[in-house]
Amino acid sequence: METIARDIYYVGVNDRQKHLFENYLPLPNGVAYNSYLITDDKIALIDTVDISMIGRFLANIDSVLQGRKIDYLVVNHMEPDHAGSIGLLAQKYPEMTIVGNAKTFDMFNGYFDVPNNRLEVKEGDSLKLGSRQLTFYMAPMVHWPEVMVAYEAQDQILFSADAFGTFGTLDGSCLDTNLNTDRYWDDMRRYYACIVGKFGKATQVALKKLSALSLKTICSTHGPVWQKDINKTVALYDKWSRYEAEQGVVVAYGTMYGNTEQLAEAFAQGVVSGGLKEVKIYNVSKTDASYILADVFKYKGLALGSPTYMNETYPLIESLMSKIEHRGIPDRVFACFGGHTWAGGSCKKMTEWGEKMKWTAVGNAVDNRQGVKADDLLQAQQLGMAMAKEILNQSK
Ligand code: FEO
Repeated sequence: METIARDIYYVGVNDRQKHLFENYLPLPNGVAYNSYLITDDKIALIDTVDISMIGRFLANIDSVLQGRKIDYLVVNHMEPDHAGSIGLLAQKYPEMTIVGNAKTFDMFNGYFDVPNNRLEVKEGDSLKLGSRQLTFYMAPMVHWPEVMVAYEAQDQILFSADAFGTFGTLDGSCLDTNLNTDRYWDDMRRYYACIVGKFGKATQVALKKLSALSLKTICSTHGPVWQKDINKTVALYDKWSRYEAEQGVVVAYGTMYGNTEQLAEAFAQGVVSGGLKEVKIYNVSKTDASYILADVFKYKGLALGSPTYMNETYPLIESLMSKIEHRGIPDRVFACFGGHTWAGGSCKKMTEWGEKMKWTAVGNAVDNRQGVKADDLLQAQQLGMAMAKEILNQSK
């Protein structure tokens, strides 16, 4: 198994089989469940893997331990993509002590009925393994309430749970120093937006706390072990958890027969005419919402387009609005447009939603009746131009 530092091994697994993370987020580039083994005088395993990968995981551990036993299992995070293998692991290693905090064990008791000893730790407690020791810091709500991280001071390694994670498998090596990491940044933003994105404030608290530590290596539960790109990774998590946006616009539309789609094209033309070059148009029926959400985190402007559907917004637009709202994304510039054949409704709903989000509204919704006319396209274009101007003004 690959070594991260002396006596610290990567024993995680790649998952190229699962189509949907948490059964709803597409995984075109797969995902890694990372686990780490420290073989000092005492042996500590940090986190486990999704239970679907238990066979490969146990083989990885065996290949390092060669018959030695695990003394401690550190449970940084109880979500089953990491804790899922604990039950079977505990059967194989009954002498292994489970290390967690009070919240960990509250969840643990609901998931597992295993006789292993337990060691409850709190903020700043250390666990001596020999020449190395792990110090624990609580990181609640990055991504669940029980999340904690473990710091190894000798080599300045942070075992960070989901923080600094990304989708994407580890192809050939777990170390970012051996990989072209360009492939990860978009997937990392999508991972952040979908998994941790609601918890920006908690992530900021954790980042502030961790900034007191010297870090040479970050071992997250997903994605590469960060060394060469450690500063970039921390900076990205900092930026996203502050919901900081770049100049640009996402145009997300639903359409049944192409009318709202034409408005979306006209709106985007207006944005470009208004002076912004970064515009992303998404048909919500084609592009999974997780990609759109990742770009809502990235860009300052969002325009939603929706035909009226049963007096409401188009179902997939409604679903997208709900996903954005759940993440509590603040301080965006908003516009909307849509259409109807006999009675409107979608534009009113979207306008009210933008108000609820407390975003800056641009212009009035363009709501075309029946087929799109030249005047509707002109209004959509003018609305796009107004959004570009507002975004440019705000950045002055
Ligand atoms: Fe990768 Fe929140 O678990």
